[in-house]
Amino acid sequence: MRSLTDLDVSGKRVLVRVDFNVPLRDGVITDDTRIRAALPTIEALRERGAKIILVSHLGRPKGGPDPAFSLRPVADRLAQLTGAKVGFATDVVGDSAKAAVAALEPGDIVVLENIRFEPGETKNDDALAAQLAGLCDVYVNDAFGSAHRAHSSTEGITRHVSQTAAGLLLEREVKVLSAILEQPARPLVAVLGGSKVTDKIGVIDRFLELADAVLIGGAMCFPFFRVQGHSVGASLCEEEGLDAARGALERGGSKLMLPGDLGIGERAEQGAERRDTDGVEVPDGWMGLDIGPGTAERYAKLIRAAGTVFWNGPMGVFEVPPFDAGTRVVAEAVAACPGTTVTGGGDSVAALAAFGLTDRVTHVSTGGGATLELVEGRVLPGVAALG
Ligand code: 3PG
Repeated sequence: MRSLTDLDVSGKRVLVRVDFNVPLRDGVITDDTRIRAALPTIEALRERGAKIILVSHLGRPKGGPDPAFSLRPVADRLAQLTGAKVGFATDVVGDSAKAAVAALEPGDIVVLENIRFEPGETKNDDALAAQLAGLCDVYVNDAFGSAHRAHSSTEGITRHVSQTAAGLLLEREVKVLSAILEQPARPLVAVLGGSKVTDKIGVIDRFLELADAVLIGGAMCFPFFRVQGHSVGASLCEEEGLDAARGALERGGSKLMLPGDLGIGERAEQGAERRDTDGVEVPDGWMGLDIGPGTAERYAKLIRAAGTVFWNGPMGVFEVPPFDAGTRVVAEAVAACPGTTVTGGGDSVAALAAFGLTDRVTHVSTGGGATLELVEGRVLPGVAALG
């Protein structure tokens, strides 16, 4: 994989695939982490006199242009963050994009409209890939969060541009995530939460092979408990996850750790009564909404003593106190761990941010699905295409 530093970009048109798929509420960006994460590559290219063309998707628009999915607010935010003049093209490969690219001077930036307004993008359409390639001399992929997608702007375009490279963010993500799998300081502890075991079974299996301990939390533990014959009450329990849970229990042995107590409530509502169970039976009408204090402390002890921690997914409904307690104890333990700590996946990253602990973790991945697929050991098409 070539690096940005291997390329001569001075005066050249450099098309950078970024992942600016940020959350928006009423047209306002509620979390600009992914925009900030792309700044090192953008700044490095500006310093070296490149003409920068930024391409991204935003959301999953259906059937062509839709103002609700426009990248214009992102271009405005980027202008604030860089202090640079940031142009905006109202299409992707049409007249507006071509004119904006033709007008670029070294160090200038233009953001093209949402690449998914082009129906060919998600089909990895070769004609669209060629049109994108026609806008540039050099292609850089810095969209780690989209690297698991084989789309025209992440994969197809590389067949039409002779000079390609990884951006600094993509390079760092791949390096850090690969290192924790290939040469982790031990003990390696994986903390896996969230609601669906079917989403995480590939990651659970990988860490059952590689890690010293796999700690399970979140509603994902209920298929395990159901298989073990416990009552799960009204808890969220993914029926389709029962086979996956059964298989992991058989393979996991003592490495696979499940909660031994739970925080339960009748409603997942702020201020609802919380009871902590002794054991993991959930009475009728009650839901398991958090790991219990005993489990939180047991997990925290293992996390604090780890050489490497990978954390994906909250331990409970962390957005709704008092069911945030278990996730908070785990997040604080990750922050306190002197080893290498890596968090990936939207919800655990949001939990860290909510507890003000983001800066206390070695690496916060910008990927969701991409992070999980890399950790599972799958080839990411966007990375493979860079050679
Ligand atoms: C993400 O948010 O995980 C990436 O931006 C990919 O988005 P997608 O799942 O819509 O392809």
